[in-house]
Amino acid sequence: MLGVCYYPEHWPREMWEQDALEMKALGLTYVRIGEFAWSRFEPRDGVYDLAWFDQAIDTLSSVGLKIVIGTPTATPPKWLIDKYPEILPVDPETGQTRGFGSRRHYDFSSEIYEREALRITEKLAERYGGHKGVTGWQTDNELSCHDTTLSVSKAAKAGFQKWCKGLYGDVSALNKAWGNIFWSMEYKDFHEIDVPFGAVTEVNPAHMLAFYRYSSDQVIDFHRKIAAVIRKHSPGRWITHNFIPKEDMDVDTFELGRDIDFASYDNYPLGRTCLMFEQGEPDIAKKYLRSGHPDLSTFYHDTSRSFAAGDFWVMEQQPGPVNWAPSNARTEKGMVRLWSMEAFAHGAACVSYFRWRQAPFAQEQMHAGLKRPDNEKAAAWAEVEQVRRDINAIGLSDIRKEKAKVAIVTDVQGLWVSKIQSQATDYNCTRVEFEYYSALRQLGLDVDFVSKDTPFEGYELIVAPCLPILDEGFVKRARQSEANFVFGPMAGAKTPDFTIPENLAPGFLQDLIPIRVTSVETLSTKHPRRFAYKGSRYEAKVWCEEIEADGVAILARFGTDEPAVVRSTKYTYVATLTDNAFLKDFFEDVCADLNIETVRLPEDLRISRRGDLVFAFNYSDQEKMVPAKGGSTFLIGAAALPPREIAVWREGK
Ligand code: GAL
Repeated sequence: MLGVCYYPEHWPREMWEQDALEMKALGLTYVRIGEFAWSRFEPRDGVYDLAWFDQAIDTLSSVGLKIVIGTPTATPPKWLIDKYPEILPVDPETGQTRGFGSRRHYDFSSEIYEREALRITEKLAERYGGHKGVTGWQTDNELSCHDTTLSVSKAAKAGFQKWCKGLYGDVSALNKAWGNIFWSMEYKDFHEIDVPFGAVTEVNPAHMLAFYRYSSDQVIDFHRKIAAVIRKHSPGRWITHNFIPKEDMDVDTFELGRDIDFASYDNYPLGRTCLMFEQGEPDIAKKYLRSGHPDLSTFYHDTSRSFAAGDFWVMEQQPGPVNWAPSNARTEKGMVRLWSMEAFAHGAACVSYFRWRQAPFAQEQMHAGLKRPDNEKAAAWAEVEQVRRDINAIGLSDIRKEKAKVAIVTDVQGLWVSKIQSQATDYNCTRVEFEYYSALRQLGLDVDFVSKDTPFEGYELIVAPCLPILDEGFVKRARQSEANFVFGPMAGAKTPDFTIPENLAPGFLQDLIPIRVTSVETLSTKHPRRFAYKGSRYEAKVWCEEIEADGVAILARFGTDEPAVVRSTKYTYVATLTDNAFLKDFFEDVCADLNIETVRLPEDLRISRRGDLVFAFNYSDQEKMVPAKGGSTFLIGAAALPPREIAVWREGK
């Protein structure tokens, strides 16, 4: 249930045994090792040294720790790069080759790298695949992190041309699909097609979208082969990948998830809060400086949980200040425990801390661990001990997270569209999804994420905040489903070739809601409009559509007549981005109509259900009352919840 990321290669061997014993004493079950150690596994071309790793595994597993091996494929060693410099990726923006000296310096289109990565993976999988101490595998590390999905290498260009040919067959079909007559961009042959970077001004969005798709396919293909090698040599062991999804991962994560047994997420709430809010909303960044935004970790937990069938893990949990955000605050006391328990409430089977001991050297020397560089216990230690007591108090292991009643449809194409042609710098697909998610969570709802390609079975409400590209299959499934649907603006607004549908937006959705988007205006967040819903006025911001809405119910209007929110049978379309107040009021009404219970939570309090347990998390610095029903039995905490504390109860009937 608890684990840690450990780098035996960073420490003298004499420390390993003591480390293992202390991990065990702390109540850890799992230890992840190996994911950056290629230069020690294979110090020279074809010369392997695995004796040290044998010893590390034996030392750790001899005290009963279960081993998770990470393939070292995120860090090709220097000799390999010197031998095959073409492995290095080329930065799309600058056209510069990205050099050796950190990590993820490889090109997904490089066949040489694929061969070498499979070779080292096979070596490890053959040797450790059947080791009784080895319980599972992590593929690579945070695929796509550090903007590495896209590379504009020679190999990528050649691969992209081949990919285009495979998709369109005939170059005139590609020209037509992309609209290449515009600005004389027509090609005579697939070999003329370049990567979509380096042009004078904006490139054709269809060209860019195709390149994103190609690049995503390359990542998936690379990963699929790595996973297959592990499966071949390590029967009965699971495979996971540690995702940092959405804006940091330009990849179809549902497709990638087919090759693993469960997904993992690396949870760094303070770093992520700083990245999301510091620039545009410094007040929010300040408010949650040491706690993280109350919806941010779970936004990613719930997303990651959806990528593969099994439970999910937090593979890396922030234990203190990190080193990579614009500023790196200390965590408020109690937050490491709170984040850990929150992950469990959202279905995690394991929370594993990054890292065991802070390294006194190299890039992450300012990144906290469970132990300090001087080997004393760091601040998080006592909180992990508390987590272990908490888990024991509630007996979590047999209790599964049930399917929620509400699901958000997420799709990487929304992210791609909003990156490629956002039409407003303030439009950001991830942010739109986050705002919907946050409003639903403030109403006490559990929320799943689903792919647009699922049957939607078992859900009562499906929300699609940002789904510009969808197909007839989606419409069919939405029709067959029992659920009600709410679509955000831009739904169905683009074809797969990044053009406006012939029948205008929302394209295929017109079968469900007979409306047409006749014009779109975008506005800076500083200049919102107003719209009215049930006698109250709310902000319409960033993206506002003008729609023809004959024959559908108009639920909200801009000014006196222009439709802003419309409904046809069980399908609702929100033709603008809105403020949080609207989302809460609106979803409260939607849920009331569907008999889905909601509760307006006090600010900065969140609740989640796992089986028959209800968890509450107080992110604020004030005491909050949790919404436990009469007759509930508290297993942790009480109805009055002090700052940064958690409560867990079994609901009274
Ligand atoms: C993660 C990464 C780890 C480590 C950590 C630091 O994104 O997987 O290797 O760098 O960040 O916070």
